[in-house]
Amino acid sequence: MEKNSTEKMIHDISNYPSTIRSKFQQLFGQEALIIRSPGRINLIGEHTDYNMGFVLPAAINKAIYLGIQKRNDGLIKIHSLDFQDDFECDIKTIKTSGKLWPDYLLGVVEQIQKKHQIQQGFNIVFGGDIPPGAGLSSSAALECATAYGLNHIFNLSYEKLDLVRLAQAAENEFVGVKCGIMDQFASMFGKKNQLIQLDCRSLEYAYVPFHSDKLKIVLFDTRVKHSLASSAYNERREQCEAGVKLIQTVHPEVLSLRDASEEMLLEFVKPVSEIVYKRCSFIVGEIKRLLNSCNDLKNNNMAAFGKRMFETHTGLKDLYEVSCQELDFLVDLVKNDQNVIGARMMGGGFGGCTINLVNSEAVEALIKKVGDTYHAKTGTEMLAYVVEIEDGTGVLTKFSL
Ligand code: GLA
Repeated sequence: MEKNSTEKMIHDISNYPSTIRSKFQQLFGQEALIIRSPGRINLIGEHTDYNMGFVLPAAINKAIYLGIQKRNDGLIKIHSLDFQDDFECDIKTIKTSGKLWPDYLLGVVEQIQKKHQIQQGFNIVFGGDIPPGAGLSSSAALECATAYGLNHIFNLSYEKLDLVRLAQAAENEFVGVKCGIMDQFASMFGKKNQLIQLDCRSLEYAYVPFHSDKLKIVLFDTRVKHSLASSAYNERREQCEAGVKLIQTVHPEVLSLRDASEEMLLEFVKPVSEIVYKRCSFIVGEIKRLLNSCNDLKNNNMAAFGKRMFETHTGLKDLYEVSCQELDFLVDLVKNDQNVIGARMMGGGFGGCTINLVNSEAVEALIKKVGDTYHAKTGTEMLAYVVEIEDGTGVLTKFSL
């Protein structure tokens, strides 16, 4: 989950891997190991990860590319292609940078240093085509790329799940967003044409095939980023925890909202706080909804699946209150369109994208219609991304020059 950033972005780099390779040579005179780490979508199951429920994300064909190599001294030198900015520090004194983007990398280094106290520094050049602030987890992708790269060059022997936890801890402790595990897990464990049904309590997961020539996943980017998103996110998490505490006074066996029922919420939470009740009620309903939607997928009942996506949106808007006018407008626009099977806001909320399941042959016309209407209403040029489901974080071995 990204904090708001006003830093300048450029989007004209068409081939990141080869640009990174040559920039690395130019800056450091070394051949870079190149890691690709993707952004993610989430079909359904929002804000359920930190409540120990289920999520249904996938990695996508938009990614961070990160070149990395060891140095002979103790310095860390990082160049960001997109921000056209540099950062440098000593590996033995990791502290927040004061300009956000380096913190996603430094947070990971800090986690690794807790165990390894590495003395040797490294060089990094990175960039990518995940639009920042769009709710596609560019920050998680950057954290995963850094964790994967450091694991590789320093032979740290971490398993992929350890790297996911490291990346999440970096975001929680260093960046200060108390996010759940979904984004980092999806970026790391993504698989081509497969959704990941993840149980966020046991971390057991199953791949669910999701590929059809008839259906496309289309994201509509509001291009809205609210600066209070991170604090509102942390507040939602606290409200969920407050709900659990109220139930625990009588049911100590309830460890998270995963274990709670609507009846418990009515009995123990609603009389104390209407707002906490609303938050918790959404989560309890959403966990159930996800399980039902997985059955829809098994039964190939996409109409039922899509209906649940709209229901999720309504809950996020009215009960969890993490939507915004622009997101609601985009969802309302497609609600009665027979070519849109399902739609909802996606990710943490307060801006970013809606996710839409759309009949393939209608995609182009829909993008035009929604884009024009959005522009007329808001004065903002909407962006649309037709995404493919791709593999998760890994070393890039083949790329064109
Ligand atoms: C952000 C967080 C995730 C998750 C989603 C909401 O993306 O980083 O952990 O909580 O919001 O589902």
